[in-house]
Amino acid sequence: MTDEEHLDADGDLGFTPAVVDDTGRPAPSRTATPRRRALRRRITSLAVLVGALTVVGGGYAMLAPASGADDTAATSQDVEAGRQLYNNSCITCHGANLEGVTGRGPTIVGTGSADVYFQVSTGRMPAPVQGAWELRKVPKFNEQEILQLGAFVQSKGGGPEVPAADADLRADADKLGDGGELFRLNCASCHGATGHGAPLSAGKIAPDLYRATDRQLYTAMQVGPENMPVFGNNQITPEQKRAIIGYVQAMKESNDPGGAGLGRIGPVAEGLVIWTAGLGVLMVSILWIGARL
Ligand code: HEC
Ligand code: HEC
Repeated sequence: MTDEEHLDADGDLGFTPAVVDDTGRPAPSRTATPRRRALRRRITSLAVLVGALTVVGGGYAMLAPASGADDTAATSQDVEAGRQLYNNSCITCHGANLEGVTGRGPTIVGTGSADVYFQVSTGRMPAPVQGAWELRKVPKFNEQEILQLGAFVQSKGGGPEVPAADADLRADADKLGDGGELFRLNCASCHGATGHGAPLSAGKIAPDLYRATDRQLYTAMQVGPENMPVFGNNQITPEQKRAIIGYVQAMKESNDPGGAGLGRIGPVAEGLVIWTAGLGVLMVSILWIGARL
């Protein structure tokens, strides 16, 4: 843009400036100011943008690995916190050294943090009364406390370990076929072909799998509660466990009555999405045409 154009466009110097250089044009010092201002404004907004991106990116970089690091390794504080929770809620039935108490509860030496996770996160433990077969209930402890209890039991005698809190336990949709086959082979005989649960012999039941989280499914396979067999990594590899979990959770979604069972409504939902998106495009076009006029 030349100086003349600039002045014409702005019109804020609608007179011949008192100071002119020998070409007859206004002195650069007078006209450079608005240009410099515009440039400064552009630099400022660029700096703001870069700053914002840095903050967002830096914040993410700070948070993302931190959450992973915290969850994987149990610290000695976790073990100590777990010991206190154990002494308050479990010791009467499982004993001071996890050796069990006759007539109250079995030894849990070597059951590992996976078993503790399964039992406590599904509310089966702490058992309210002794002897009864515990079913799923509202859990008494939060996720952190459950992991602390697990860390304590783990420290006392090893056993299968609960997967890290940030582990991805569900295979992608392309493994649904494998998952379905493994499920029919290993789980359907007790839990039913659709995971709805079924009665077993001697008045016991295999519960439905619709309320189980990824981690509960995984730990159930690791520890085999009650009549359920243990599915060690030799029988079902971790990769196959993930495929089973993907299948069970997909089945659960398609069994959801109402709600967000998008996979189930199929064509209707897609039609709705196209309709909504189309309407959005139409609105934007209308606004755009309006703004141009
Ligand atoms: C009132 C007694 C009682 C209390 C309190 C109790 N348990 Fe248990 N627990 C039992 C009994 C009985 C069993 C075995 C019956 C069963 O498997 O349902 C058991 C089983 C377990 C198992 C599975 C053992 C195995 O062989 O797989 C774990 C793990 C466990 N308890 C952990 C805990 C933890 C952790 C707490 C405290 C938060 C706790 N329990 C509190 C009585 C109790
Ligand atoms: C021989 C029968 C049997 C087989 C086979 C079996 N289960 Fe189970 N499962 C059970 C029983 C019984 C329970 C209840 C245990 C209890 O309440 O302590 C159970 C409980 C569970 C739970 C806990 C559900 C809840 O909401 O608390 C999950 C998850 C689970 N099983 C997953 C599986 C998966 C996945 C497979 C296949 C890899 C499988 N089971 C194979 C009998 C079986």
